Amino acid sequence: MAHPENFDLAHLGAIELFTPKFDESLHFFRDLLAMREVARVGDSVYLRTWDEYQLYSLKLTASDTNGVGRTLYRASSPEALARRVSAIEKAGLGHGWRDPEVGVGPSYEFEDPDGHLMGIYYETEHYVPDDEDRPALKNQAAKFPGRGINVRRLDHINYLTSDVNACGEFWRDVMMSRESERVKLDAGGYGAWWFRFHQKSYDVVYSDDWTGERGRFHHFAFAPDNREDILKAADICLENGIYIEYGPYKHAINQTFFLYVWEPGGNRIEFATAQARLILDPDWPVVEWSQAERAKGQAWGMKTVATFHTHGTPIVENQEEIDRQALAGH
Ligand SMILES: [Fe+2]
Repeated sequence: MAHPENFDLAHLGAIELFTPKFDESLHFFRDLLAMREVARVGDSVYLRTWDEYQLYSLKLTASDTNGVGRTLYRASSPEALARRVSAIEKAGLGHGWRDPEVGVGPSYEFEDPDGHLMGIYYETEHYVPDDEDRPALKNQAAKFPGRGINVRRLDHINYLTSDVNACGEFWRDVMMSRESERVKLDAGGYGAWWFRFHQKSYDVVYSDDWTGERGRFHHFAFAPDNREDILKAADICLENGIYIEYGPYKHAINQTFFLYVWEPGGNRIEFATAQARLILDPDWPVVEWSQAERAKGQAWGMKTVATFHTHGTPIVENQEEIDRQALAGH
């Protein structure tokens, strides 16, 4: 049975992404994806998807490497925030409160068992569109850009981890998120684990990092409106020299239609339809896949691309060679 604390998290709030190719990455997110710049502070630019009700969705930061910075999660209420902070503190993974910053009020910073930096907050700044960005309908955050990949909202994040089991147990027992699906390894434990906050089938995912590194990033996903948008995204990436790693295709696990690309800074970005299949049963039992079932590939039978298990950010030494050998089948 679902517990009231299973609903303490509202949604993935915002993500900080590092890029060693800031101008090219900014072009990708702002011009090809039709995100809007709302603030610049230091080496960071804050960008929003068009139907983001908050001020921003992505903090893009110039860096000498790539990978993910702090992931922000919005709590469902001040009481929910207090409950989760207390649980995180008891787990010994809390860093403490941080002052309000661009778009969000006070946040409590912590890390997961694999060292990924995170924050949880409740107070947020609602986006107020200017004349240029005002939508025709008042139930929409901003004007529909109608250009490029036209990303509507942030959907989910997938972290690489040296310890899927510890991270999964943290999200199940401390963050109190519900499991939706997982991959059971023949040797015991899990190779990947999916968690949901509400009816969308997943919000947070952990995947085994075959390099054994801690704290790396696999991808985050934007949700366009439909499958056709994802086919169009593939054409736009093709025309603009963006590396298409995998798809468009349909996942077996959780059944989203997807496309994976590497933005110019080397970080993997996904476009995925998470809204087609919802889990309405509050007590829906976790769906477990065996290693053999996972090895069958995706929904219609295509095998998972080899770099899906090797490429992560920040890149490791010899990352290009590791990816090249994986694609060559070595
Ligand atoms: Fe994904």
